[in-house]
Amino acid sequence: MRLPWVLLIALLAHHPVLGLTPAKRSYFTHNYYVLEHDPSANPGASLEETARTLGVEVVERAGELRNHWLVRAVKPDLAARSDDSDPVLNVLENLKARANVVETHLLLRSEETRHARAVVSSLKYLSRQTPRQRIKRAPPPVRPPQDSSDPTQPPPETLAQRVASRLGIQDPMFPEQWHLVNNDYPEHMMNATPVWEMGFTGKGVISSLVDDGLDYTSEDLKDNFDAEDSYDFNDHEKLPTPKKYDDHHGTRCAGQIAAGKNNACGVGIAYQSKVAGVRILSGPISDVDEAAALNYGFQNVSIYSCSWGPPDNGQSMEGPGYLIKKAVVNGINNGRGGKGSIFVFASGNGAANGDQCNFDGYTNSIYSVTVSAVDSKGLHPYYSEPCAANMIVAYSSGSGKHIVTTDKGKNECTSSHGGTSAAAPNAVGVFALALEARPDLSWRDIQYLCVENARMINPDDPDWEPTAAGRPYSYKYGFGVLDAYQYVKAAQTWLLVKPQAWFETKAIQLNNGTMDEDEKYSGGQFISNGGVNSTLSITKQMLVDNNFEKLEHINVRVWINHTCRGDVEVEIVSPNGIKSVLAKKRPSDRADTGYPGWVFMSVKHWGENPVGDWTISITDSNKPQENNGTFLGWNMKFWGTSIDPAKATQYEVPLKEGTLPLPENAPTPPTPTTSKVLAKPTALLPGDHGTAEGENTNPAFPSGTPTTDMGWFPDMANLVSNQKWFFVAIGAVVLFGMGAGIFFWRRRRVARLSNYTTLPAGDDVSMSALSSHRGVARSSRPTKELYDAFGEVSDDEDDEDETRALRGTHPRDRVAAGLGFHSGFLDDDEPPSAGGHPTPLYQDEPERAEPHHEARQEHSTPSSPSGSGESWEHAS
Ligand SMILES: *[C@@H]1O[C@H](CO)[C@@H](O)[C@H](O)[C@H]1NC(C)=O
Ligand SMILES: *[C@@H]1O[C@H](CO)[C@@H](O)[C@H](O)[C@H]1NC(C)=O
Ligand SMILES: *[C@@H]1O[C@H](CO)[C@@H](O)[C@H](O)[C@H]1NC(C)=O
Ligand SMILES: *[C@@H]1O[C@H](CO)[C@@H](O)[C@H](O)[C@H]1NC(C)=O
Ligand SMILES: *[C@@H]1O[C@H](CO)[C@@H](O)[C@H](O)[C@H]1NC(C)=O
Repeated sequence: MRLPWVLLIALLAHHPVLGLTPAKRSYFTHNYYVLEHDPSANPGASLEETARTLGVEVVERAGELRNHWLVRAVKPDLAARSDDSDPVLNVLENLKARANVVETHLLLRSEETRHARAVVSSLKYLSRQTPRQRIKRAPPPVRPPQDSSDPTQPPPETLAQRVASRLGIQDPMFPEQWHLVNNDYPEHMMNATPVWEMGFTGKGVISSLVDDGLDYTSEDLKDNFDAEDSYDFNDHEKLPTPKKYDDHHGTRCAGQIAAGKNNACGVGIAYQSKVAGVRILSGPISDVDEAAALNYGFQNVSIYSCSWGPPDNGQSMEGPGYLIKKAVVNGINNGRGGKGSIFVFASGNGAANGDQCNFDGYTNSIYSVTVSAVDSKGLHPYYSEPCAANMIVAYSSGSGKHIVTTDKGKNECTSSHGGTSAAAPNAVGVFALALEARPDLSWRDIQYLCVENARMINPDDPDWEPTAAGRPYSYKYGFGVLDAYQYVKAAQTWLLVKPQAWFETKAIQLNNGTMDEDEKYSGGQFISNGGVNSTLSITKQMLVDNNFEKLEHINVRVWINHTCRGDVEVEIVSPNGIKSVLAKKRPSDRADTGYPGWVFMSVKHWGENPVGDWTISITDSNKPQENNGTFLGWNMKFWGTSIDPAKATQYEVPLKEGTLPLPENAPTPPTPTTSKVLAKPTALLPGDHGTAEGENTNPAFPSGTPTTDMGWFPDMANLVSNQKWFFVAIGAVVLFGMGAGIFFWRRRRVARLSNYTTLPAGDDVSMSALSSHRGVARSSRPTKELYDAFGEVSDDEDDEDETRALRGTHPRDRVAAGLGFHSGFLDDDEPPSAGGHPTPLYQDEPERAEPHHEARQEHSTPSSPSGSGESWEHAS
């Protein structure tokens, strides 16, 4: 069925089919859109007819998304137009109006109306694509690290040198790679060398670095480079060549994973695995390209390493747009022969700004292994973001040490890599080792192995809290630090989990609280000094009805209208008394847009029996006299294993979600909506990310009475007492001065490019019924400036000329996996729960009395299209 379409599109585009790579875009001359065409709609119109009616030409399929097409129209002459509305979207509006004409009169039943109805019913989704900048979670170019050793004194033979001679490692910088062999703190390293001695080095596993390029000419990477699965979405070229002066981030991360065992720089954790480079961070790209990037080569690529995200400024609350969420779910459902792409995201570097990874829709996705950082002493570095979505930690910069890895260039090495950006690739390397040992692990097996095999560090840190399933959890460390040896050993004997199941509760609405598609709130309960509590109940029957056996992730979606979002704190307490802090005060977040159906995620309830009452607490951390708000409603989504694998179904991203309509009139308007990722200014990691001393004594989210104290002040006090900090501060001032100079210089250059990155106001709206994203736009602007100040704006100027090619369908079909399933492993393997009570079997759980709660809850079926709530959240 695909082939005729391909030919048709080729004819339609009047261009020969050139190849399989995405076409070059020309945002100067054309407007681009993504449309989802439903070939089975009845009445329906063909893709060709739909495109012709809208006045667009089909460019190519949208990445790996079935029935999604990238289309374009010549940009209208701005001067000739009286308004700034989008002509293609206008056509659609007119079609919809015509299709909705109520034909009481036979004479009015025209061919035109029939045609309009056919096109409208075939068109499931249409959105304008605007290029936007994605931001790396990277340190800016940093000063060389302080070298405290005396080069004239030959140091005694170290542990690393002994390991190097035993394993025949000649890489000159290997002894400096403390994350592989830590001479000073041998208990703090990724512990990969024993896995190499077991014979696993990542052979046959491909990781994709979704980043700013990958230097495939590097001596350390060229033998492990996978060109076939690489692509440059910034310049629309096949090879991900780093071109800008600071395009070294992807190369450094790739070196951590797959730097060769040779005579260049150091060694990667999976030094015989392959790395592909997908370049998206070196200029603005559209959602459709980000979606394509996250599925690029997704049959051969096992792991996508993502060290970027929304700004880490403690102000933004953003997540992936609809197409990107779809691509991720496509990777989960269909990638790697159906075993699921493994997405690894860095948790973010904004902890010093009060940022938390539950305000980032990428890191709080259930589909992502979210990785925070610990330093060479095993301490929590001040930049690493805490949240209930953190799954594990891996080693990175702090307490005087950075990550030593390959750098851009023929034979280059860097000793200044770090941040959570460098923690994520260390985890990717470990997963590559495990996938060589066990290529059949699904994306959820990878997560289970993290949960059950992460190593606890700093056991006296008050951030550790018991969970119902027995393993302690920390917002800073997740379930602990990833230990390659422990992980791979466990993977070798791991019994695969059964397919995923899920269910979503109906929303509880407080005092008729609602939110419409324009994010307009009404009703709700005032959040007074004592806060507002609300409870919903989960019954055994809900689990049975939804084929749901064991709990993994939970989602909590909230609708809160507040004049200062950063004041609002959100917690959820499980039936077993386990509390997840979902949102702690964020002093910098002054947005007045509230939480318009934002989805939080927690892994802290993994393995817990979900039957019983879940209580949410919404509190205002400041006095409500000045800034205040209302709690309108909430719901929950439970993700876990299925009871009967044969009845398991795959999750699909709903087209519409996030509104809170009144229960009795909950119509689904025919208009599809979309959400967009706005500019993502950089999360600039300060220059002292490697030098500042970490800590292991502060809870991430101290409980007790709300204070106006920012959580990071105690850390800062420690820093100030450290003399080094003074010189770091002086350095920062100097750097700032330089930065400001560069900023004004760049700004003049950037002015010339600004038409490229921002579209005229009004055109920014991709659909008529689009929900607005005022708060995000507002809050992200200041950091965009900061971002520009460091000169990381696109230098792409050569996009005018364009070659169009048709991206073919993937020839490699999904492999039917004959998987064996582990049944009820949590029962078998779990230690007794924290309180000494065995984790009860669900079926044995005593019936609970019906509690008092605001609204009686019913479950909704997993496939319910009117449901809302999954973790890839709207960008607002
Ligand atoms: C990807 O897999 C296909 C078969 O599934 C194979 O033909 C191709 O060579 C592989 N590419 C790489 C880079 O391994
Ligand atoms: C909610 O709306 C219903 C009617 O739709 C009304 O009867 C009820 O009083 C309202 N409740 C509140 C608290 O406003
Ligand atoms: C939030 O509630 C206030 C009243 O408390 C109301 O004036 C305001 O319009 C609401 N905001 C939105 C976006 O609906
Ligand atoms: C909400 O519940 C918490 C316990 O989870 C309790 O400490 C608090 O007092 C309750 N608040 C209200 C307003 O009932
Ligand atoms: C809520 O805030 C407004 C100002 O934004 C203030 O006038 C009002 O008194 C506050 N309400 C309460 C109950 O404190």
